[in-house]
Amino acid sequence: MFAVSQNRDSMLAQTPPMGWNSWTYFTDGINEQIVRETADAMVRNGMKAAGYSYILLDDFWVGGRDSHNRLFADSARFPGGMKALADYVHAKGLRIGLYSDAAPLTCGGVTASLGFEELDAQTFADWGIDYLKYDYCHAPTDVSTAFVRYKKMGDALRGTGRPIVFSICEWGDRQPWLWARAAGGQLWRTGPDLVDKWRAIMEAYDHQKPMQNYSAPGGWNDPDLLMVGLNGRGICNLTAGELRGCTPAEYRSHFALWCMQAAPLITVADIRNIDTASLALLTNRDLIAIDQDRLGKGGYLIYDKDSIEVVRKELAGGDLALCVFNRSGRPAKVSLDVQKDLDIWTPFRQVRRAFGGGVSGSGAFGGRTDKYGRRIDAELEAHDSEVFRLTR
Ligand code: GLA
Repeated sequence: MFAVSQNRDSMLAQTPPMGWNSWTYFTDGINEQIVRETADAMVRNGMKAAGYSYILLDDFWVGGRDSHNRLFADSARFPGGMKALADYVHAKGLRIGLYSDAAPLTCGGVTASLGFEELDAQTFADWGIDYLKYDYCHAPTDVSTAFVRYKKMGDALRGTGRPIVFSICEWGDRQPWLWARAAGGQLWRTGPDLVDKWRAIMEAYDHQKPMQNYSAPGGWNDPDLLMVGLNGRGICNLTAGELRGCTPAEYRSHFALWCMQAAPLITVADIRNIDTASLALLTNRDLIAIDQDRLGKGGYLIYDKDSIEVVRKELAGGDLALCVFNRSGRPAKVSLDVQKDLDIWTPFRQVRRAFGGGVSGSGAFGGRTDKYGRRIDAELEAHDSEVFRLTR
């Protein structure tokens, strides 16, 4: 029995989970019709083919507990119940996730799982749930209690025998990268909720830089959801004078940097009506291949000068991905000597521009390398990125 569950755990989230989450755009407006249409859209629009597989319901799906203390779904939002919805999502070849909290109530104030971990885990397994995001509102601040409460649910999920990805969401406040795996988690938030503005995206990216070594197959740093395609809609948490949404270049860098960080790729846009440029970005095969690389290495900063940052990510087979990122608010010309500037001395057979501004058709210029792959040249819009793949 033990060997079986060990094996089950070692198979979960071998690459960062990819999917869609209801929170930032739909919040408490979530319902079963939206979920079904989103599953349909994920198949129809090519996201499933690109690797997205999880349909994740966030807060506000719970109605309460019945006379046997079993959770039930909010009947106004989910009249057909969770089992039927899970069956629908599975029939599309996708997987479904739910949300709860390690306290009596969720962040949104609906019934949560503290004290009912085994019963709730079994209920989720009975419905065919594949993923649980477990939040930490209304819970004590100390790390010991957090570990105990998360492990209780982690053990309960494992005890069901169903492979259920366990997503730990305590906002990085108690250094979960040090203990989340031991609590049974396959991913853990490293910071606060991301919103659709450039400054928040940069804060999340910078915040996670020191933790990159903690990502590996089966356990991932989670810098939070992808804002690509929101274009200023959904929760924004604006303070005075801030702009809603990001520029196309900023969304490109957001997605490229998340892929370089081996982050979970979980979009929040209304993918039933997503614009062409955002869909092209979210399904960019070269970037997804970098994110999903089987080594599971987090990228790290190797160059930081005059607002140009270069992130390096090691890939299977000795390949390297390099993301050249223009942090400044002005266009920049970049010319880097791979050996002298980036300290990469291994010879590479091919240096290929895997990704650049052209993806959104917004007129970026396209990087170049010389034929020996010794130089990388790029002309980058404000806040834009290009990604190069160096092949042995
Ligand atoms: C917290 C989480 C968010 C979301 C909301 C739901 O803020 O960090 O990701 O799940 O709760 O209420």
